[in-house]
Amino acid sequence: MDLETFTPGSGLLEPRAALRSDAPALDLNGTWRFRLSPTANVPDDFAQPSYDAADWDELPVPSHWPLHGYGAPAYTNVDFPFPVDPPHVPDENPTGDYRRTFDLPEDWTGGRLRFEGADSFARVWLNGHELGFWTGSRLPAEFDAGPWLRPGRNVLAVRVHQWSAASYLEDQDMWWLPGIFRDVTLTRSAADVFVHASHDGRLSFEAEGGLLSIPELGVADLEPGTEITLDVEPWTAETPRLYDAVVTFPGEMVRLRVGFRTISIVDGVLLANGSPLLLKGVNRHEFHPERGRAVPYETMRADVLLMKQHNVNAVRTSHYPPHPAFLDLCDELGLWVIDECDLETHGFGEVDWRGNPTDDPRWADALLDRMRRMVERDKNHPSVIMWSLGNEAGHGRNLAVMADWTRERDPSRPIHYEGDWTCAHTDVYSRMYASHAEVEAIGRLAEDPLDDPELDARRRAMPFLQCEYAHAMGNGPGGLAEYQELFARYPRLAGGFIWEWIDHGIVHPQLEYAYGGDYGEPVHDSNFVIDGLVFPDRTPSPGLIDLKKVFEPVTFDFGDGVVRVVNGYDFRDLSHLEFVATVEVEGETLAEHRLEVPAGGGEVKLPDAPPGPEGERWLTVRALLSGDQPWAEAGHEVAWGQTLLAPPAPRTASATLVTFVRDGDEIVASGSGFDAETGRLVRLFGLEVEGPRLDLWRAPTDNDRHAGLEGKWRALGLHRLTHRVDDVEVGDALTVRTRVAPAATDLGMRATYRWTLAGDGGLLLSVDLEPEGEWRDPIARLGVTMTLPRTAVERVTWFGRGPGEAYPDTGMAARVGRWTASIDELQTPYVYPQENGHRADVRWADFGAFTVSGDPVFGMTARRWSIDELAAATHRPDLVPGDRVHLHLDLAHQGIGTATCGPGTLPQYELRAQAATFTLRFDPA
Ligand code: GAL
Repeated sequence: MDLETFTPGSGLLEPRAALRSDAPALDLNGTWRFRLSPTANVPDDFAQPSYDAADWDELPVPSHWPLHGYGAPAYTNVDFPFPVDPPHVPDENPTGDYRRTFDLPEDWTGGRLRFEGADSFARVWLNGHELGFWTGSRLPAEFDAGPWLRPGRNVLAVRVHQWSAASYLEDQDMWWLPGIFRDVTLTRSAADVFVHASHDGRLSFEAEGGLLSIPELGVADLEPGTEITLDVEPWTAETPRLYDAVVTFPGEMVRLRVGFRTISIVDGVLLANGSPLLLKGVNRHEFHPERGRAVPYETMRADVLLMKQHNVNAVRTSHYPPHPAFLDLCDELGLWVIDECDLETHGFGEVDWRGNPTDDPRWADALLDRMRRMVERDKNHPSVIMWSLGNEAGHGRNLAVMADWTRERDPSRPIHYEGDWTCAHTDVYSRMYASHAEVEAIGRLAEDPLDDPELDARRRAMPFLQCEYAHAMGNGPGGLAEYQELFARYPRLAGGFIWEWIDHGIVHPQLEYAYGGDYGEPVHDSNFVIDGLVFPDRTPSPGLIDLKKVFEPVTFDFGDGVVRVVNGYDFRDLSHLEFVATVEVEGETLAEHRLEVPAGGGEVKLPDAPPGPEGERWLTVRALLSGDQPWAEAGHEVAWGQTLLAPPAPRTASATLVTFVRDGDEIVASGSGFDAETGRLVRLFGLEVEGPRLDLWRAPTDNDRHAGLEGKWRALGLHRLTHRVDDVEVGDALTVRTRVAPAATDLGMRATYRWTLAGDGGLLLSVDLEPEGEWRDPIARLGVTMTLPRTAVERVTWFGRGPGEAYPDTGMAARVGRWTASIDELQTPYVYPQENGHRADVRWADFGAFTVSGDPVFGMTARRWSIDELAAATHRPDLVPGDRVHLHLDLAHQGIGTATCGPGTLPQYELRAQAATFTLRFDPA
């Protein structure tokens, strides 16, 4: 049957551009009648106009039926959720029958039925006549409806099967979500246009019988095939200049927005309008936490705005063409786009690529059909700068079929594909998750050669990009700054695209957000679908905040009394920005000045330091939008830099007047008490406490897990340390000598806690650490943990880096200042709970009842649950506040890395068991 055919469709009209036409159109979105059957073998009598579907349910179009209570979503990354036996599909094949009527306006003749997307195999009938079928879920399909339309009431019926031969081509890492999930229209537009507009003002177009006008440029009734040259402002993502154009045909008029721009490759460098282009990109799946890939327009717009506001300048539409309106937004607001074909056959990798459609001529038509439908639909977008043949589809001859046709049809855009490292069919060398070291080698043109010298020479002349890097799963990614530094250093490196934009968590009544396995899928990939820079509700995660810093288009180099402002934009100057310098002492503003920065950037004198109180003094320069932009309001911060003006004033130690005294079972001083036997603090300035005591453990991050560290840490026993007190000595100091070690090993740490009195009521704790035995692997953290009654701490005010979390290789966005947050606000709500919320380089923190100061700094984390509770949680609602506040005061943490995909923590950010001393000071409120 057709479901198992290699043919991509039947009865379809030739693909054409997505255009805004004045031709009449009927919007057929809305409420349809719907029936779900468990198999494909159901009579298709419902397509007949006489059929009575009155007792069927109702379903909105566009939507996915599993998100409306019919069946359930299922998530796999690589695995097919059915046997790999192409082109066959399982008998269990959820089949949705859709039916609606519509009334044809008077005098309406002819027209096309247009479907923007249906997942995955659909057949359509109009008034009982079968128009044909189509595949290619994320691609448009058009049928000639004219002969079958009737005056008055018409009956439209569509049958959608979840599985078909085409499912073998759609194995993207995402939820399997069938249904008619994009718009349906009946349109009388039949026009097609292909505009060619380059940055030097050359303009021509293809359109049968059309005449093109651009009033703003004085172009009127230009004929197809005629090239003219105009004086234009080019389009770039930084300056998305568009010109309104109309193409008039005998029966209709279409509107386009033309952007003049040129993409080229010269000497192995990717150029836009003749200048080097650095892609600061993200991979975007279409996703909405309640609607799946049926993404509302406002949500698409929100995505583009958020990207622009976070200094992202490029998008790869992983791994299929997006809703056409998204590309309009990219044209309008300015993003460089790699438009990717709806093709992924990754699951064949699980069977050594046997039977891979990419290399089987029987699939050539289907693959070419997908490419044609994408290119024809999206060819007029200036934002689209490359065509991607697909993702993770292995290699094979059908790539050549796709690439050859594309080059011929549109020589103006380079071809991208990552899955074939020989680059035999591409114009750019693209990889995913290459390590920093390999990226650097490629930057230097020093990569390992290919076996075939000809291919090697070809590839060596190509620009390089990472179509995916820095996997934003859970806490992280670490190592962003180091990648950016390489991209900026080597001209061959054209940048890349973070994996990925959004966590695909589906709203769930008990779990808050569901991921793989939460719907009982027998085969699934758990939370690997929760790997975005924004949470499912599009709240930025710390990863996005860091990315904004790393992608900053303006940088500041501070010298003695001066700052050099560097314009990092590729295509514009700094005249749209204003610069504000703020001087703060211990995080309190002392003075604020406006800096006059030349439009091209350059060295600017900093204002003289005003007199003021002693204390640690920082100067922060911020670049703000001086006026509203279409993507952010005036005052939006684009970039910032900081420099230390004066170090902290030395703390004067006052004479010690008190000492430790034994009082029954306790040793007391400064309103605090220690257990006389164990030497452990039990009361801190009258407050009942447990700890502080040594801790080497953290709730593993996704990256810790994938790096193999969680396994090593658990095997070693970092989560079950035992503490033995060897000696408690009381004098001017209270010294508690301990050995901290996990069971079943001879590794351990000698930990000596030395308490002294600061004289003015404070307590000083210095912790001396001496590892014993051979510690081979990195440890999670080095610090102390203490707990307090729940009511003791509500808010924390600290002077240090903030406001967000920071780890050794993340937190580039965390700047020195004075910050305040409630304990709840200190948590980062990762959909899959894990280590989070660490504030770095804290000088002092005021917890209300007491303050803690570092010497000079410490790391701070405060939670309403323990590390073990955090480590055991699998969804947000698992974290329930207990009756204690858990305070972690750290000397150091292991870095984060991006091992969920890509390199682990770079060596300089690893934490090793080591001899160390760190000091904390506790003061009463
Ligand atoms: C890549 C793939 C993406 C995604 C990512 C991991 O291999 O192209 O679709 O699966 O890995 O999240």
